[in-house]
Amino acid sequence: MNSSLLEKDKIKTTLVDQPQSFGYEDTVLYVEQSLNLTGTAHLYGAKNAVLVIMASLLLTDGQSILNNVPASDDVLHMIALLQSLGARINFDRINHQLMVDTSRLSSFQVCASIMKRMRASVLVMGPLLARFKQADIASPGGCVIGLRPIDLHINNFAKMGVEVVHDNEYLKCTTIELQAKTIVLEYPSVGTTENIMMAAVLTKGTTTIINAALEPEVLDLIDVLKKMGAYISIKAPATIEICGVKELKPIEHEIVADRLEAGALLISAAITGGSVMVDNARADHLDVVLLKLDEMGHDITTQHGKPGIHLTANKYPKAVSFKTGPYPSFPTDLQAPMMALQTVAEGTSEIHETVFENRLVHVRELQKMGAQIEKSGDKVIVKGIDKLYGTQVIATDIRASAALVLAGLVAEGSTIVTGLHHWRRGYDALEKKLVALGAHVTVRNG
Ligand code: EPZ
Repeated sequence: MNSSLLEKDKIKTTLVDQPQSFGYEDTVLYVEQSLNLTGTAHLYGAKNAVLVIMASLLLTDGQSILNNVPASDDVLHMIALLQSLGARINFDRINHQLMVDTSRLSSFQVCASIMKRMRASVLVMGPLLARFKQADIASPGGCVIGLRPIDLHINNFAKMGVEVVHDNEYLKCTTIELQAKTIVLEYPSVGTTENIMMAAVLTKGTTTIINAALEPEVLDLIDVLKKMGAYISIKAPATIEICGVKELKPIEHEIVADRLEAGALLISAAITGGSVMVDNARADHLDVVLLKLDEMGHDITTQHGKPGIHLTANKYPKAVSFKTGPYPSFPTDLQAPMMALQTVAEGTSEIHETVFENRLVHVRELQKMGAQIEKSGDKVIVKGIDKLYGTQVIATDIRASAALVLAGLVAEGSTIVTGLHHWRRGYDALEKKLVALGAHVTVRNG
């Protein structure tokens, strides 16, 4: 990032004209074998909560404060997006506090270059339709882990009375008045659940979402919307009911701790034979992940009802099989890091990716390190081996970058991970937390 843009770590000026990436093309993560990672790590707020919560602030008119905000590139991209709509923003990166003033919003159109920086851009649709009855957006960007269409978003907004017109690369969305409806989701899409909910909170009547996503990040958004004054209830099995109100107020909120960062840190202990405490991790957000780590023979300690997860590695871990799925199933965003762990476990693991149709690209990179993996469709068979070997590998998405760094920690020799922009999009200097646990990870010019 151009240092002149940041004054004493506070962003005082607009980021709208920031580049799509921050010039990481020739920068790499240099990972040397680092065994026995030990110590305590602390989590920042979840990327997949803070981005949608930032978008939700468009529903209010005034100044909101968000705490425990990660200084990741996707947060900077969302800052730029909100500023392009007229929001005024201060980001205190040192204290991880974000102030967003939405009292002078001036636009409902998001330019294509900003939309393409991340998938979360699509999450301004609901708030803009609720506030302005209009939203002009382009197709969002995001990790290349599948086609990632937005048909569920568009089709269900149409049911709520939104007209969508394709105009070159833009989708021009307008409504005379949003209508409260019963929305049945064929798949519990996280983004679709969030977008419909943010449109419904200011829509007269009761909107019901059946087969809704209930990931911890969705629940954090619900907490924020209720703090704003929304009436939202969750009913079994997976139904969200929203009774629309006339206006919503600015809020202050601490973003929920990032369960995906927690997973990566716990796996860093497991894969290096170490012992790590993640002191603000919520065990109830990682039930199936902890079940699998326990099945491998790792010692997991949690305190009922209190945050904090401690993992002490089993020196001879057993390979486990798992299948990804909507929460509370095994999270697709920890599939790649958990696959890295299986490559050096004892035995054979079958991994089934059911959420995204192209989220196994990291297999080829792990194979370059010596991993014994056979891929067949959306499944892989991993045969555990004694060791991996460091080499140059390519990170192909945010979570693949974490998997390759974790594999590099245990691999003999050095591993050079290119594709640093993915790592920076999804994490706030996670390499510094790994170094504090004893890892030899440095950012170098390639
Ligand atoms: C969110 O993406 C997360 N991103 C993803 O995290 C996460 O992997 C995903 O949820 C699943 O948990 C953010 O929150 C910013 P979906 P989202 O809609 O909302 C299909 C990471 O690494 N689908 O639940 O895009 C879709 O293609 C990222 O942090 C449609 O077909 O996920 C996928 O196969 C990666 N049409 C499945 O549903 C639609 O209109 C799940 O997608 C929408 C989705």
